[in-house]
Amino acid sequence: MKALVLAGGRGTRLRPITHTRAKQLVPVANKPVLFFGLESIAAAGIQEVGIIVSDPREMLQPDHRTGELVTVLVNSQAEIRAAVGDGSRFGLKVTYIQQEAPLGLAHAVKIAEDFMAGDSFVMYLGDNLIKDGITHFVREFDAEKPDAQILLAKVARPWEFGVAELEGERVVRLEEKPKAPKSDLALVGVYLFTSSIFDAVRAIQPSPRGELEITDAIQYMISTKKNVRSHVIHGWWKDTGRVEDLLEANRIVLADLATRIDGTVDSATVIEGAVQIGAGAVVERSHLRGPLVIGANAVVKDSYVGPFTALADGVQLSECEIEHSIVLDNSQIHDIGRRIESSLIGRDVVVTSTEVRPAAHRLMLGDSSRVELS
Ligand code: TTP
Repeated sequence: MKALVLAGGRGTRLRPITHTRAKQLVPVANKPVLFFGLESIAAAGIQEVGIIVSDPREMLQPDHRTGELVTVLVNSQAEIRAAVGDGSRFGLKVTYIQQEAPLGLAHAVKIAEDFMAGDSFVMYLGDNLIKDGITHFVREFDAEKPDAQILLAKVARPWEFGVAELEGERVVRLEEKPKAPKSDLALVGVYLFTSSIFDAVRAIQPSPRGELEITDAIQYMISTKKNVRSHVIHGWWKDTGRVEDLLEANRIVLADLATRIDGTVDSATVIEGAVQIGAGAVVERSHLRGPLVIGANAVVKDSYVGPFTALADGVQLSECEIEHSIVLDNSQIHDIGRRIESSLIGRDVVVTSTEVRPAAHRLMLGDSSRVELS
């Protein structure tokens, strides 16, 4: 058994973060979301993993000093290769498979055929987080030996997902975002396939949005009388493709946090709940109400950091209040009068107040940024 992890894609719903970085490397509780998936693949006893990565692309971006538009090469592939390497630290052997464009999940399967070399495999969407892992799911596939097995979860808004119609555990039909869903069981981003999936991905045509859809490939297997089984998960899972979902994933993962303080905290700081503070971090005259995590070499002064907040390495905060948020590496937030909440702040961002007149909001935001002021 091998694994295929999808870490290409456009990431349009997470712009502007994904203008410059792979969405699979956005951290949840200060750990890249992709690492949770790789760890659960290793825990399921799988060693050989193919990771789908996208080609580098050029884009226009404002220079952070002059504001002038300059062409930059966005290479999320290089970032993923640098973060995951050969996979040995996860106990995995990783091979990178380059996808020339995000032509769909079934396209990613198609280009992985040589790598799979006839083996069965688990396909894992690199931005999905399944709290209880996939071991049980993989074992069931091994025992039952169907042609494919999909993972399903009960959802409140099935019309927003791929939805399965079942007879027992057998899948009889899949529908992508149906207007009148036949069940409330949505497809979760983990699939198990035998090599018969390759006939299916070769047989299907691109959908109206121009992608080879995995739901069409699985539907083809069902129509050609292959045995497609389902497994319903009851634990928590999340597709972290949108900021709201990332924040919820951060909340769920942080809820299980154990306290660990490697940095320096002064006696004027109050700590409540579970808190992790990385090596070299300094916290002074602040109020920390966990669960929260503060990365290595971060500096927090005269601030309130509330529950479900993850501050990455090198973040600097002073005179501000923040909760239920994710702040990425080396960003700075200073002297903000109102509490910041439910926010995702990228790397090297500066948010500060100013005495300069006229009193006004002065913004320099990348394409597709979102700001809510009140
Ligand atoms: P999606 O979240 O469905 O697609 P996307 O990354 O293009 O995001 P958005 O809708 O916000 O534009 O993709 C699920 C996962 O699969 C994600 O980790 C990206 C990856 N993927 C590929 O590797 N190749 C592809 O062709 C596609 C469509 C997705």
